[in-house]
Amino acid sequence: MLSESPIGIYDSGVGGLSVLRAIRDALPHESLLYVADSAHVPYGEKTQEFVLQRAFALADYFVSRQAKAMVVACNTATAAAIAQLRKRHPGLIIIGVEPAIKPAAHLTHSGVVGVFATTGTLASPKFAALVQREAPEVRILLRPCPEWVRLVEQGELTGPAVDAAVQAPVAELRAAGADVLVLGCTHFPFLRDAIQAAAGPSVPLLETGAPVARWLRHQLQEKGLLRATGAADLHLETTGSVPALAALASRLLGKPHEAAATPERWR
Ligand code: DGL
Repeated sequence: MLSESPIGIYDSGVGGLSVLRAIRDALPHESLLYVADSAHVPYGEKTQEFVLQRAFALADYFVSRQAKAMVVACNTATAAAIAQLRKRHPGLIIIGVEPAIKPAAHLTHSGVVGVFATTGTLASPKFAALVQREAPEVRILLRPCPEWVRLVEQGELTGPAVDAAVQAPVAELRAAGADVLVLGCTHFPFLRDAIQAAAGPSVPLLETGAPVARWLRHQLQEKGLLRATGAADLHLETTGSVPALAALASRLLGKPHEAAATPERWR
């Protein structure tokens, strides 16, 4: 493995681009290969076994592309698969994402924290263990929001439909006393403006892109795999519609991007 090798990043769809943004900021010389597993979005409503099998397929694909690291830019897939992924590929740096429960427990004054995530994440033993470990004294209110994933996948980030979808879940958790809200799905940072407007300006909305990017940087550095010079490049692939990913990624990342199809074998 070489420092020039790419870093593979994937999510069920475009949500992981919120993590990719942070990785590009923290690691400006790395080559990134992003796969949107759009043929199978949403993961949040699928079985744990299905999400695990997709994680295996994508990890094997990244290994076939000589990736030096893999980022599971999806809370649902991390909860379902990260331990088994590490067993399957012990030599690969594998980084996952999980809801920001620990910082939320530090920030709350009311002792009540609201978590927006997928059904899969919130129902997982890994999430239960995280809460038990990091926030045993805090009241954690759970709110699955599959509709928010759908809106982001359709490129609806602002406007009346978004405001309507965000209003009730946010109001419900605020009314129940939550003074910190955790965006526990990588799609949700793309709805940040609407969520913040519904929550009020003083409510912290916690996401995990930046800490994940710092942890990745640390791991690469430790293994002597950090690429410190040279131009970065970014390849976007999808198991679903190529034009749809190109259009959506261009919007979400703020400049035109091309996309390609992930080879059939891995779809
Ligand atoms: N972006 C994903 C997450 O962080 C999953 C959304 C979905 O496919 O349901 O959990």
